[in-house]
Amino acid sequence: MAPYTRQNKVLPLMTQDELKLAVAQAAVEYILPKLNIDTIVGVGTGSTANFFIDELIKHRHLFDGTVASSEASAERLKKGGVNVYDLNSVDNITVYIDGADESNEYLHLIKGGGAALTREKIVTACSDEFICIADQSKLVDVLGDFPLPIEVIPMARSYVARELVKLGGDPVYREGVVTDNGNHILDVYNLKIVNPVKLEADINAIVGVVTNGLFAARNADVLLLATPNGVKKLTAK
Ligand code: A5P
Repeated sequence: MAPYTRQNKVLPLMTQDELKLAVAQAAVEYILPKLNIDTIVGVGTGSTANFFIDELIKHRHLFDGTVASSEASAERLKKGGVNVYDLNSVDNITVYIDGADESNEYLHLIKGGGAALTREKIVTACSDEFICIADQSKLVDVLGDFPLPIEVIPMARSYVARELVKLGGDPVYREGVVTDNGNHILDVYNLKIVNPVKLEADINAIVGVVTNGLFAARNADVLLLATPNGVKKLTAK
């Protein structure tokens, strides 16, 4: 993939927003050959996804429409003239593009910093291919420096928090946040996540958990990673 350049010069110093724009443009370039008039594109949530949406809008005539992982992304897409479908009315999503809070080299992810993790995981499950887009700060050796978001049924919040302490984490209620599904978020600090697949399953087994922000059982297929020297394409180790 061509490095991100301006006037044919590779930029040694780039802001985080410039990196996000670069990876959003690379993602559009990556999916363009997959688009036709019947294609449904899955669209994620967050600041990197917003850059992607703004780039995707420029190509809205090349595909049928989208399924969005949040009300905010749906709104942004609609404002740009892109069709947004209810997932239940769609048979197949060709590709899902979304950001992440952390990724390891196996493309296991932590997501949910924007509280959209449950819908993100549902759209991921329905998509043939999951392209994660991120700047280089998101690539880590071991997941867990970023607190792991857990969506919980409101009445179960304290119970789930106690169970998470037993798993070695320090859960903190994200006050004032209600998800698009009407639920609450616990952010779990101080987890060193050496076995993301197992921890994802263990946390999901706690009664009252809707889902957790580990995307490990279904990881990303491709990570497009923005660096000052260009956008790198990584596949899972
Ligand atoms: C939204 O719930 C998240 O999963 C986002 O994809 C993640 O937080 C990355 O967001 P940024 O692109 O804003 O860093």
